[in-house]
Amino acid sequence: MAESRVQILSKGPVIVAGHVDVVDDNGKSIRRQEPMAICRCGQSQNMPFCDGISEGHMKVCSRAEGIL
Ligand code: FES
Repeated sequence: MAESRVQILSKGPVIVAGHVDVVDDNGKSIRRQEPMAICRCGQSQNMPFCDGISEGHMKVCSRAEGIL
């Protein structure tokens, strides 16, 4: 079985790699390339993918600290 990975970048997009079925709200597959960078800032002109517009400007930083 192939491994899949979802990685939240610090102040950046979510990187999705591996065999993951990504579909839009109409059920259409939107998988394009691997790995995929999914926008987390809401500013991309190519949603749901990151187009790099947020680079260096995102203030949100998600970490798992305190959860485990
Ligand atoms: S996270 Fe990259 S454009 Fe939104």
